[in-house]
Amino acid sequence: MLRVLKKAQDEVSGENIAKELGISRSAVWKQVQKLREAGYDIEARPSHGYKLVSTPDRLTKEELELNLPPEFLDQVLFFDKVDSTNDLAKQMAGTGKFDPLGLVAAEEQVGGRGRFGRAWSSPRGGVWISLVVRPKISARSASRVALLAAVAVSRAIISATSLPARIKWPNDILVNEKKVCGILTEMAAEPGLVEYLVIGIGLNANFEADKVETHRTPVTTLQTELGRPVDRPKIISGIVESILRGLASLERQDDQA
Ligand code: BTN
Repeated sequence: MLRVLKKAQDEVSGENIAKELGISRSAVWKQVQKLREAGYDIEARPSHGYKLVSTPDRLTKEELELNLPPEFLDQVLFFDKVDSTNDLAKQMAGTGKFDPLGLVAAEEQVGGRGRFGRAWSSPRGGVWISLVVRPKISARSASRVALLAAVAVSRAIISATSLPARIKWPNDILVNEKKVCGILTEMAAEPGLVEYLVIGIGLNANFEADKVETHRTPVTTLQTELGRPVDRPKIISGIVESILRGLASLERQDDQA
């Protein structure tokens, strides 16, 4: 249902939705009610149709899967609250799941981990994701993945918000000289070859900067810099798609080396 409404962008008739989904018009109406209860603003005009006016700022598995490339279907784990998405992603990948890829996302982390064993403050409203990938690259090339991910995040921020995001080599993203995102990449390798990589991305998105518990570098959030929340599923898909493109090109370069 969401997919149909999003694809249409404009008004779409109940009859067309019913046809596309192979359900009755009253079933369409029931699903619209359910989406409204979940916070979606859907306009309904008698004898015209339905139009998706706005989406709630809440991450869900459905929203994520709708925005991500099709290979992520059934390969997304979403949690309202979790210790650390990186830990879960490692568990999944280590037991042979998420092959060739997968994503763990959470609305809130209570045991979020940063680099050098530091805690990573992860209140509700952030982008706390761990992408599992299994690129065919040498363990030596794996160090380039963190930088590739940083490029992907900064590009996604710039394209979604026009904020002046820049990379503080190799793992941080700054906006106006304040840290907005950190990346923690973890790897399992057979001798010489990457088995899987977990790319953990912590992006301070839809909450105010004073919610971040840290006394280290100056920090900020996209919402604080912009004065409004951002479309998190869209930013996540921008990041993930750009990382996958970068990995494909890294695989090609590795092949030639
Ligand atoms: C850093 O700058 O120290 C890296 C922070 C990485 C945080 C992310 S949030 C999603 C993923 N899960 C974690 O526990 N850590 C990473």
